[in-house]
Order: sequence, then structure tokens, then C-alpha cells
Amino acid sequence: MCGIVGFSSKDTSAVGPLLNGLHRLEYRGYDSAGVALEGAEGIKIYKQTGKVAKLDALLKKALPGDEAQKFTIGIAHTRWATHGLPTVANAHPHVSGDGSLALVHNGIIENHAALRAGLEKRGAKFLSQTDTEVLAHLVGAFDKGDLFSATCEALRRVEGTYGVALISEKHPGEMIVARKGSPLVIGVGENETVVASDVSAIVAYTRQVIYLKDGDVARITPDGIEIRSLDFASVSREVQEVDWDIGSIEKGGYEHFMLKEIFEQPDALQNTIRGRLDSRDGTAILSGLNLTPRELAAVRRIVVIGCGTSLHAGMVGKYLFENLADIPASPEQAAEFRYSNPIVGPDDLVIALSQSGETADTLAAVRESIRKGALVASLCNVVGSTIARETGRGVYLHAGPEISVASTKAFTAQVMALCMIALKLGRTRRLSREDGIQLAAEIERIPELIKAVLAQSKTIEQIAEKYAKANDMFFIGRGILYPTALEGALKIKEIAYVHAEGYQAAELKHGPIALLREETPVVALLADVPGKEKTLGNVQECRARRAPVIGIVTEGDAAAAAAVDDTIFIPRTLPSLSPIVTVVALQLFAYHVARLRGCEIDQPRNLAKSVTVE
Ligand code: AGP
Repeated sequence: MCGIVGFSSKDTSAVGPLLNGLHRLEYRGYDSAGVALEGAEGIKIYKQTGKVAKLDALLKKALPGDEAQKFTIGIAHTRWATHGLPTVANAHPHVSGDGSLALVHNGIIENHAALRAGLEKRGAKFLSQTDTEVLAHLVGAFDKGDLFSATCEALRRVEGTYGVALISEKHPGEMIVARKGSPLVIGVGENETVVASDVSAIVAYTRQVIYLKDGDVARITPDGIEIRSLDFASVSREVQEVDWDIGSIEKGGYEHFMLKEIFEQPDALQNTIRGRLDSRDGTAILSGLNLTPRELAAVRRIVVIGCGTSLHAGMVGKYLFENLADIPASPEQAAEFRYSNPIVGPDDLVIALSQSGETADTLAAVRESIRKGALVASLCNVVGSTIARETGRGVYLHAGPEISVASTKAFTAQVMALCMIALKLGRTRRLSREDGIQLAAEIERIPELIKAVLAQSKTIEQIAEKYAKANDMFFIGRGILYPTALEGALKIKEIAYVHAEGYQAAELKHGPIALLREETPVVALLADVPGKEKTLGNVQECRARRAPVIGIVTEGDAAAAAAVDDTIFIPRTLPSLSPIVTVVALQLFAYHVARLRGCEIDQPRNLAKSVTVE
């Protein structure tokens, strides 16, 4: 997915704000970047492959001294390639046939080939392989004097998803923005208007924002903002206040955002929990679910959908709903689910997990579930995100912005939110008040237990030093710890570029054990949960093949510690909460291995923070 920024002001240069905005959005994609600047002599375009810093350098050279002051309106883009290689030609902005209009886009225009063919028939010449350039030509072709209506005309012909911003030499002072399926937010400042893919690029200027909805098209001038629908009917959108500030998206002295976000987890989970536990009746208060006890008690099955780390959290959810609420639950990979003609209906509660709230596959699975009449809720971290709005009910994670591409605090916050939903559902069924009170009390302890794991970061770094050169790793766990094994493996893959596999501990001997050698460390999740003794047996099978074993072991479990080569101790907690405490050790292990291998960490190669394309 890509990052878009737009800036419009009467007298402030757009260059600095556009570049600052791109830096904030770089986690969304970073294989090339560009800007289009509107000044008295028309529109100037600057594009560069690589990270935003390279575009910075290009602009410093191209606009020396106070040259940049000439441009008070502009658009900018940082790209995650979907059509065409990361080259300057394919970098955004793209221009219309006569070069007078510049446009940046996030999303996929699915009918771009047909549109391109039609335009070529009328003499259009294209400079890139991108779907975006087709849209720039299309708007230009419809522009008979009104850029706003020309944009609506063009977008009505587009199939697919877009977040776009465009400016034109023929319409000085105007910026048109629109969204369908890709997020776009307008920041309403005192003297400037800032448009961006998400609020992290806006809060430095204003916390007054308008979240555009699918089908909205807005015209921005230094005199104001006008919003219309695609068929040009006037639309009004409320201005909302962003509830966090720029400080929350700075590194705060940490070397990487990922380390900051790992260490933020005690506070993040405090915020997830805050005001949501009723320790007197041993239940959870989740008004955002917007479901009566009768509706909750009528739920016959739960389907938890997500991708990547969110899918792993959903897999933990299965154990929570079945063990705490006696409700059958199935985790589903969102893309697989949406194309499987899923069997869901009014007796099912579909819970969509998404940190960004914009993942295309998860959004499509939500829409499919709504189409089939299921009850749909979401667990998102980004307030006002598309998935959160389209489900209309759910539990916001309140974990604070997660900037690092590798998800950490969102995972633990999702598992915590799922646990509280399971507690609430359980108390509409057979979970006793006493058991509910015990679980609620243990949930309150979790932030402190996480701190105890964080305090071992140095020990974990020393263990990481022993294994940082491994090219293959296994993560094994049983029951509720199996999804956590998958998550530990994903972290190592994502940021350390080490091939790692998460496996059910019992499954190893059915084939994968053939891969074990002295050079293949195995991380065994040995927290004190049902099945731990069996996993210890699997550990012996691994060591019999000379594979070194790193154990994540409950404090005081000397037998488990003696059975492994290296031990990371974690505090004791209830089995339902063991994934949260265990995963923090795995996050730190992956972080230290990646750092020792000299990897990028916050913006790993080939990745993007939220995948808003299929
Ligand atoms: C996790 O570390 C990855 N960045 C990725 O798997 C992510 O979890 C997945 O793309 C889903 O994103 P979402 O939670 O924003 O929907």
C-alpha cells in the first residue's frame, strides 16, 4: 500500500510539510517517492526511487535557498509497487496527456487496461506501466473547465480502489481528493489544509480532521473545503478531534519504533483494558459491541477473520472462546474466507481483526459476512478506519499508533480484547462469577507481568547472539501456544529475514523433524499450560537430533529449564493469558536477532504496514 500527502496554504511553502508527511507515511511503502508542486510557473514534478530521504536530497538541490517558498500547494506520494517495477517512470505523481494535471494514488484500478485501451484509441501516450497514470489521463480527458466534476466523471468509470489527490495548472489553487477503499483524511488547520492516508502525517499541523468515506470527493482551496458524492450531490462530514499527539509517533529515545512499541505494551494494554472490566461481577464492559445479553447468548458460532499477525491473534481467540465461553470458534484467513463462499449467517458472530482497519482482504471478508446476514464486529487500532466504520460495532484496541511494520503491541492488545469478549460471552453462559472475577483480576495483572519479561531484554539479547547466524529456525507450541509459535516465527521472518516455521509441537515428528540439525535452533513454548509435559517430550526429540532448544519457561519450572539449552523465564499466569506474556519474549528475541544481523527492522524489505490491495 502507498502513502499520500497533500498540502494547501495561502502563504506557507508546501515542500517541507509534504516531505515531513511522506516520512511519517514511509512505513506504508517505500520503494519510490515523488512530489508535484504548484507555483506561479505551473506544476513542477520531482520523483526518485528508494526512500523518502533520497527525494529530500533531490529537492534540496533542485530548490536551493528560498525557492521552495514559491510553492504553497502540492501533493506527494511514497510507493509500494503493485503495477510495474520501482522506477522513476513508475513513481507517482503521474500526469495527464498534456502534462497539466498531476495525480497521486493509493489502491488498484482493476479496469485500468480497458480504460487505457480506450484512451490510447483517442491518441493518449503513456509513460509508465502503472494503473495510476490511466486515471490521470482520464481526469484530464474529462476536464472541460471544472476539475471537480471532471474528477467525479472519471472516478465513476473506475472499478477497484483508490485514495487520490490531484492538482492542475488549469485550475490554480485547487486540489481534488477522493477515496474508495483506501483511507484518506483531511486535516483542517488554521492556515493550511493537509490531506494524508492517515493522521500520523497530519497531527503535526492540526488534530481537527475529517475522515472521508468511500465515494467522497473533496475540493480543497485556500478558502475552504467542499465535499460531494461521485454523482456530485453535496455531502457533509463532521470534523473530529484526533485523540493522540505527535509525541506518540516519535521514537522517544528508542533505536527503532519496533523496540519502542514492544516496551509500550504495558501502557498499551492498560489502555486496552481501561474501563472495560467489571471486577465485582467478573465480566467485561464492552459497549462498543452494541449487542444485548440476549443477542450475545444467542451466538451459536464465532468466526475470527484476519491476516498475518491479526490472523494469529484470531487463532488464539479460538481457544479463548471455546475454553471460556463454550462457543465453537474458527479462525479464518480473510482472503481464503471471502472467496470460499463462506457458510455464515444470523447465528454467527464474525469478528474482524485488523490493526490498521484497512487491510483489503479483511475488509472484503467483512463485506461478505454482512452480505450473508452474520453479526459482524471488529477489533481495530485505528479509530475511524474503514473496517471499524463498516462493521459499526467492535472494540477499539487503544494501543496507540503502531508505526513499525512488524506488529507487536497490536497483537497483544487484540488477544487481550478477545479475552475480554470471551469473558463477557462466557458470563452469558456457564462461566461462573467466581471464575470471571479470577480472570478479570489476572487480566489486570498482565501489564506488570509484561514488564517482568521486558526486564529480561539483555538476557534475551545474549541468547540471540548465540543464534543470530542461524538460517533456519522452528517455533513449537501446543494448544493456545501454537498460534503464538506462528507469531514468533513471523516476527523472525519479517525483520531478521531468517526462514522460520511455527509448528504444533506434536506435528514435528511427522516429517519436519527431518530438517533438524545442530544449525537449526528450536524455540519451544513451555509456559505452564495443558500439554506442557508433552511438549517437553518433543523437546527431547529435537535435542536427540542435536538441534539446540531455547525454552520459554514459566518462572520456577526447573524441570523445563533443565530440559533445554537456553531459557527465557516468563511469569506464571492463567493459560488463557499465556500467549500475551510468551509473545513478548519472542518479540524481543526476533528484535535482537534482527539487530545483530544488521537488518532494517522498522521498514523491512518488500513489506508495507497495511496491505490495502488484494
Ligand atoms: C505483522 O507483523 C505484519 N505486518 C502483517 O502480517 C499484518 O499483521 C497484516 O498485514 C494484517 O494487518 P492489519 O492487522 O492491519 O489488518
